[in-house]
Amino acid sequence: MSLFRTKSVEESIRDTEAPEQQLRRDLGALDLVVFGVGVIIGTGIFVLTGQVAKDKAGPAVAISFILAAVVCGLAALCYAEFSSTVPVAGSAYTFSYATLGELPAWIIGWDLILELALAAAVVSVGWSGYAASLLDSLGLTLPESIVNPPGEGGVVNVPAILLVLAVTAVLVLGVKVSSRVNAVVVAIKVFVVLLVIVAGLFFIKGANYKPFIPESQPTPSVEGAKAPLMQVLFGIEPVSFGWLGIFAAIAIVFFAYIGFDIVATAAEEARHPQRDMPIGLLGSLAITAVLYAAVSLVVVGMQHYSELSEEAPLADAFKAAGHPGFATIISIGAVAGLTTVVLILLLGQSRVFFSMSRDGLLPPWLSAVHPRFGTPYRSTIVMGVIAAALAGFIPLAALAELVNIGTLFAFLVVSIAVVILRRTRPDLPRAFRAPLVPLVPVLSVLGCLFVMLNLPLETWLRFLAWMAIGFLIYFVYGYRHSRLRAAHRHEA
Ligand code: ALA
Repeated sequence: MSLFRTKSVEESIRDTEAPEQQLRRDLGALDLVVFGVGVIIGTGIFVLTGQVAKDKAGPAVAISFILAAVVCGLAALCYAEFSSTVPVAGSAYTFSYATLGELPAWIIGWDLILELALAAAVVSVGWSGYAASLLDSLGLTLPESIVNPPGEGGVVNVPAILLVLAVTAVLVLGVKVSSRVNAVVVAIKVFVVLLVIVAGLFFIKGANYKPFIPESQPTPSVEGAKAPLMQVLFGIEPVSFGWLGIFAAIAIVFFAYIGFDIVATAAEEARHPQRDMPIGLLGSLAITAVLYAAVSLVVVGMQHYSELSEEAPLADAFKAAGHPGFATIISIGAVAGLTTVVLILLLGQSRVFFSMSRDGLLPPWLSAVHPRFGTPYRSTIVMGVIAAALAGFIPLAALAELVNIGTLFAFLVVSIAVVILRRTRPDLPRAFRAPLVPLVPVLSVLGCLFVMLNLPLETWLRFLAWMAIGFLIYFVYGYRHSRLRAAHRHEA
């Protein structure tokens, strides 16, 4: 079936060698770890920790962080094998093209666009919370109506919109954020996280940990279409807290780890992808997992979970403890740190777009580079405007859930593809081999499915709607313009 025709690994690699489309290979293992940590630490830990502890898991949110890391770790082993075997920009999209065929690849690419553009919106909303908290510390309190979306006591989130548009402009102009600047920002961010852990230790009250797993109870936040699919499917009365709450929380804090998969999109720019990609992927994931578990334990110890702030919980916990000075430092770190996350997410998105139109699945018009700036400005502007609109009007948690379902779906497909590629191309050199294949990929698939089942019904419906639009576009456009298909027609 031509819908499942694959693009060979050799073809994919050859494409990257065309001189006019070549990316420079100058990233080493350490650069990749720094890059990973830089994009992973963001709104997940800085904002969602508070919301999730408050609504779903209580102090046990740390358990959710650890379980989410296990699921990501399994997927990361699969990503590591893949990116060391097919070191081509485009990540999961490229992998799928080489194993499952064109239609599945299109689906994944379409899915990645959702993940990356929407994640940029989510992180901007988180950024906005800290920017408002920082201005508040400086004596300038922004009115609720311009820092919150409708439904959360506001009208529109202006700071979030401004940030997305500013970052879009930077990308269009092709201003390079040098890896040195990026490294400085990552250092600031890690410093702030460590500060929360170390300084926070002094303000922990043992009573806040009791009970560590609050008893489960029905709450308005999980009624109707907001109930996790698992509870809907199995007829369980929808509840928050307890173990079901911890599971539902995994499905949200999962967001905090998104980004290690973006390290894989840099495979084409790595000096020794075969050795360094696994180090970059697994290293950044391990570092952040330890930091997240520690931060979440400290924060729920500082403030009772029911009192955590939903906009800037790490900074506000210090304000509540009577130390606004720490809060200011944390907010500055978050504002700087989250900015680069948005930048990297939108940049990753443009890379996927680029790969897809290089293959003819999206109109070349969209990814044509600007004559002066040398950047794919049209797709960057289109996606930037969409992300800005979403950031302005949709509540954070709903957006994050949609990003998560898309990402989990990509992890699932990549895990399956690893097994397939072992069967179809056993000959390919694999510098990194995931251990215990097929056990690890199977566990990864099951882990992703489990987390996906814990997402609300409405998130599933939105995801399916997005995918339906994707199918439509493929059959109207991609199917007819695919370069791979054209090449095969030529040969026939
Ligand atoms: N993991 C990144 C964050 O939490 C996307 O912001």
